[in-house]
Amino acid sequence: MRSSSDEYRTHDSENLNERFAHRATFMKPSEIRALFAVASRPEIVSFAGGMPNLSALPMDQFAKLVEELVIDHGGEALQYGSGQGHPKLREQICEIMALEGIRARPDDVVVTTGSQQALDLISRIFIDPGDVILVESPSYVGALGTFSQYEAEVVHIALDQHGLIPSALQEGISTLRTKGKRIKFLYLVPNYQNPAGVLLSTERRIEILEICRREGVFVVEDNPYGLLGFNGPSPMAMRSYDSENVIYLGSFSKTIVPGFRIGWVVVPRDLREKVIIASESSILCPSNFSQMAISRYLEHQPWREQIDSFSKLYRIRRDAMLESLSEHFPSEISWTKPQGGFYIWVTLPGSLDSREMAPKAIAAKVAYVPGSAFFADGSGASALRLSYSPPPPERIREGILSLSKVVKEELRNAG
Ligand SMILES: Cc1ncc(COP(=O)(O)O)c(C=O)c1O
Repeated sequence: MRSSSDEYRTHDSENLNERFAHRATFMKPSEIRALFAVASRPEIVSFAGGMPNLSALPMDQFAKLVEELVIDHGGEALQYGSGQGHPKLREQICEIMALEGIRARPDDVVVTTGSQQALDLISRIFIDPGDVILVESPSYVGALGTFSQYEAEVVHIALDQHGLIPSALQEGISTLRTKGKRIKFLYLVPNYQNPAGVLLSTERRIEILEICRREGVFVVEDNPYGLLGFNGPSPMAMRSYDSENVIYLGSFSKTIVPGFRIGWVVVPRDLREKVIIASESSILCPSNFSQMAISRYLEHQPWREQIDSFSKLYRIRRDAMLESLSEHFPSEISWTKPQGGFYIWVTLPGSLDSREMAPKAIAAKVAYVPGSAFFADGSGASALRLSYSPPPPERIREGILSLSKVVKEELRNAG
């Protein structure tokens, strides 16, 4: 006799596909997931992951804080909590956002399971199949995946070393409008962008806000890296200029730790209820334990000094990578020079394909993310993203030297 689990396994994939909802068609594995499995092998110098470097974190302090949390407040920390998020943490989040000029009240904040969940909530609330979402060119891979699962048409808008180009945005909106498209929002990462590493200038922030307000397009400002600048504070957040038309996403993943999975979203007031309801239907409430741990960390630890020491650590790594790129990479290759965050965007000559080159780089014991991962339309083949956050400077130099040899070989073969 066959058990029910055997029967279940007899479904062939075609059969199973027929049972899926239509939207499941758009759930595709990220092309970088497989790469990460290889890149995490110890012999590989990985520039692939955008993980924060936790080596500067006071682990013993964290352990003490978590222990005290369970012993002294376990009854609350290990219980369900509010769907909107822990009130005390929401107050602290407002103090943090004030550093970038945002005036918000705790009631305006909805705590999420990382800012990735906030992206999902915003998408669920706004996107009908075929709606247009505007993004930078290139854009954050995790956001692209979410937008496409909600069947959005993702349209890239050009970016340069000062961030998204306002005239390109205006032109893009006008063209889409003449085609009768419904544009729902512009998604952008103004500070030390993932993946390009660029910083959006204040003038452009204001110009972009004006265009979006005039055109009736919401702005989704995703800001996980804003406090990780190398040259002092970042420009004021876009939300600080316009609280009616900007949806702001924040996260503790890069400034404290990603392991607690705590982010937040601040929406215009009349949208807040929808966000809370959408979040409750997916997670009931964010983890009380994680929120209280972060809250205690903010209360009892010198967190601003800690962020400064993270920034110093990343700056040293950025310098090592930029120096090695200048030393070893051929002159026909260009790259961005980030003033904060984790990423450098490298542009190769058009004859090279970074996805085809990736296995050769792995064979040379170095990993990166091919540029095409950051485009919804399959472009970006001649670019790649390097993350300098995880490896120590000497490994960065080693990895860039190896990568330069692969690139030179590719150029010879193409040439
Ligand atoms: C631009 C951007 N947005 C959102 C996220 C997701 O962060 P979280 O850990 O808060 O979900 C990341 C993570 O790398 C990111 O780079």
